[in-house]
Amino acid sequence: MTDSLAPAPAQPDRAALHALLRRMPKAELHIHIEGSLEPELIFRLAARNGVALAYPSVAALRAAYAFTDLQSFLDIYYAGAGVLLKEADFFDMAHAYFERAAADHVVHAELFFDPQTHTERGVPIEAVILGLARACRRAQAEFGISARLILCFLRHLSEEAAFATLEQALPWREHFVGVGLDSSERGHPPEKFARVFARAGALGLHRVAHAGEEGPPAYIEGALDVLQVERIDHGVRCIESPALVQRLAALRMPLTVCPLSNVKLRVYDTMAGHSLPALLQAGLCATVNSDDPAYFGGYVNDNYIAAFDALPQLGRDEAYRLARNSFEASFAPAADKARWTAQLDAVFASA
Ligand code: HPA
Ligand code: ZN
Repeated sequence: MTDSLAPAPAQPDRAALHALLRRMPKAELHIHIEGSLEPELIFRLAARNGVALAYPSVAALRAAYAFTDLQSFLDIYYAGAGVLLKEADFFDMAHAYFERAAADHVVHAELFFDPQTHTERGVPIEAVILGLARACRRAQAEFGISARLILCFLRHLSEEAAFATLEQALPWREHFVGVGLDSSERGHPPEKFARVFARAGALGLHRVAHAGEEGPPAYIEGALDVLQVERIDHGVRCIESPALVQRLAALRMPLTVCPLSNVKLRVYDTMAGHSLPALLQAGLCATVNSDDPAYFGGYVNDNYIAAFDALPQLGRDEAYRLARNSFEASFAPAADKARWTAQLDAVFASA
């Protein structure tokens, strides 16, 4: 007689791994705050600000989120950001993200923002920076999340425009800890921004750059050699160059990997083909992040779970390693990193 009530053996393990992934403390280091704008909030802000939208409903907007590559996403992402006009809009957007991050046990977040997407529409840069900075302070007070801002330059625009943006932002220098480089990667190599990154470094700002998402491994080398970055955003195409993988491992250069983004934007055909296990296997300081969670199907825990479900090489040890890497790769003070790592150890010791 078969015991039909006996649970399938794989299920309890899977449920336990999911629970661990969800509740382990973690840092999120690659989140474009404009990419956290959910369709419902886009419609609410459009109504509040009297902005006309090209889509008749939340459902119609969501249905448009079928991307074929990075550019097809960016076109919709910049259109969505058009509803952001006032300081309160930037605050509301970031506050909604921090509520989700707190539920995912994010204890530290470094948020990218794209001032040029807003200043080009006539929005004052102080509305952008002060709204986001207020949400960061609130995140600490309400959720105990330490939050920092990283100002990104749009790489499809000129280096002169990046310089102008940096100068415009300097009166609010205390509110951001670094600069980054995002938007259309192909045809816009890191070298294009050599001088503005040098200026940012001289100002004591941290430096990061998207490289090796759609662009070749040479763009990762350019970001290291010319921009002097401390982290590579995405960086997954390093896997095509064994010498570069070795170099990144030796440097313990962090990669902020975004699994759901990579599948949605067709960097990988399927999650099962993602390079995350190979990156960890090679000893790289890889981390898991959401990139643009409102557009790519989920927040940071959804990214962990989607990757771990599709990739059997990922288990408990890799979960620990990824969370630990997220603290190591952050720009937080050493004492905070040590405290979060101790919290992580305690969660794993009791699980
Ligand atoms: N890549 C480049 N630029 C971006 C992205 C991305 O995934 N998301 C928002 N801006
Ligand atoms: Zn990104």
